[in-house]
Amino acid sequence: MPIDRCVCRQIQFEELRDIAAEESLGFEALLDSTGCGSSCGLCVPYIQAMLATGRTSFPVMSPRELERMCKGAATTEVKPDGTSQSASKQQ
Ligand code: FES
Repeated sequence: MPIDRCVCRQIQFEELRDIAAEESLGFEALLDSTGCGSSCGLCVPYIQAMLATGRTSFPVMSPRELERMCKGAATTEVKPDGTSQSASKQQ
């Protein structure tokens, strides 16, 4: 079963991605605004990965795998229409 939502708040990552784009919210502001991550917290690393990669569905991954995914991801800007534009990270 793919990980594609905050189960506690019943909000899909696709919806979170849209909210982040429409309201120009970063990670902390998105969690504060939606309440995601405030119960069991299991969705938190996946939401970080979603914001870093633009992906909205993940296999079950360890925190280390998710961290590696975030570090290796290009910077992704999610637009209000749900599309994303990637740019390489600057060193
Ligand atoms: S799954 Fe998001 S707080 Fe529990």
